[in-house]
Amino acid sequence: MPRDLILALDQGTTSTRTIAFRAPQLAPVATARRDLPQHFPASGWVEHDPEELFTHSVETLREAMAQAGATTGDIAAIGITNQRETTLVWDRATGRPIHKAIVWQDRRTAPLCAALREAGHESLVTRRSGLLLDPYFSATKLSWLLDNVAGAREAAAAGRLAFGTVDTWLLWRLTGGRVHATDATNASRTLLMDITRGCWDPELLDLFRIPAAMLPEIRDSAGLFGVTEAGLLGGEVPVMGIAGDQQAATVGQACFRPGMVKSTYGTGCFLLLHTGDAPVASRARMLTTIALQMDGKRSYALEGAIFVAGAAVQWLRDGLGVLRDAAESGSLAANADPQQQVYMVPAFTGLGAPHWDSEARGALFGLTRATGPAELARAALESVAFQTRDLIEAMRADWTGDAETVLRVDGGMVASDWTMQFLANMLGAPVDRPVVAETTALGAAYLAGFAAGVCPEPEEFARSWALQRRFVPRMDAAERDRRYDGWRDAVRRTLSRA
Ligand code: G3P
Repeated sequence: MPRDLILALDQGTTSTRTIAFRAPQLAPVATARRDLPQHFPASGWVEHDPEELFTHSVETLREAMAQAGATTGDIAAIGITNQRETTLVWDRATGRPIHKAIVWQDRRTAPLCAALREAGHESLVTRRSGLLLDPYFSATKLSWLLDNVAGAREAAAAGRLAFGTVDTWLLWRLTGGRVHATDATNASRTLLMDITRGCWDPELLDLFRIPAAMLPEIRDSAGLFGVTEAGLLGGEVPVMGIAGDQQAATVGQACFRPGMVKSTYGTGCFLLLHTGDAPVASRARMLTTIALQMDGKRSYALEGAIFVAGAAVQWLRDGLGVLRDAAESGSLAANADPQQQVYMVPAFTGLGAPHWDSEARGALFGLTRATGPAELARAALESVAFQTRDLIEAMRADWTGDAETVLRVDGGMVASDWTMQFLANMLGAPVDRPVVAETTALGAAYLAGFAAGVCPEPEEFARSWALQRRFVPRMDAAERDRRYDGWRDAVRRTLSRA
């Protein structure tokens, strides 16, 4: 039997999944999933249990193998993709985390970011890392851990502690503590990397007071990272691909050429525009980030990050209890009263791109006595489209090269035809939904499969991308602008800084 199965482990914000794909076509053959409990110890704080991140990963790897009837002898490689920026620190000797993982959504370091901004450090940070001084990224979370866990700073300086994003933590544990490494895409989200040179930046380490001894080695996204401890999966399996989830989705969407754009709708929404082999600095407060590193060669993307997309629908379901399940939102929205224009600005955890206002909080506008669940559902789904348009408009200011006029979409929310149609209407451009909606896992599987020699070159893989449905705009320009102007006004009224 050939070794032609790839296990793609997708450790996301709200769940951990393993999808088994069969190479070379990468047809999905098994899926295992665990929901991930969220911990909110204080207002604006979000944490995950590091042990759960690991045990759920191993459980889903095992379960996907069992479903596929596979043993380690059938597995060519594992690919890891992960929620980015989430920050962990552990003791190198015992392997024990010193604290829970601080999740990318966590805002506890907003005052530290503001102080660094006021002290004039943002331009250096942006020049080197491509990012902004926002609590979203890892560096201030890591700094907070060193300052707030007793003895951590001394232990870190003595080389006894290791830092990692989720990929690094899982790799460390899967390899039995033998490998402390990350890939360039994950490293590019820490605020500590010089993304042009592809290495940790000493000045940024000084600024955030991070000892270099804690940091993982930065590697290509495709290549041998290490092998799993034999006891975990019944034998050793090589880990051969790692990429942050949004970069993996960009691979899964085969956005390899400059100008191609994808947008993933999960908890948040992340839109990446491939910009080729040199970083493009943003004038519109987009992020410059590494799209991929293969054979030491980096490609780059402009990224717009929105913190709340699917999470707005979750809030309607779990917080307000006005939805039975998320899938109901599209049909409710379709039946909402067309005379009412309710706007929801879902700034539950501040606003990301292009506003970067961590103090803003969510707001609803245009409520009347007749407003009900249907109008709220429509407002939540529309907010996703309005925010996507905000990102596209901002990117137009940054990107002078050719840009595809088509947006490739993926993630849980794209199953809703109503939402995708409204998105196309709001953008005034086509929206393409692929056959394989699991593009994040697919991208991780491709990277691992390519490194393992069981998947084709990127050009051939790109040819296998298949369209499931294209949504074309069906709203006249005047109506589109009127609705979008209303949204912009709602956002203006929500910002904490006028
Ligand atoms: O930057 C955060 C992002 O990687 C999280 O993605 O899909 O887990 O919400 P997701």
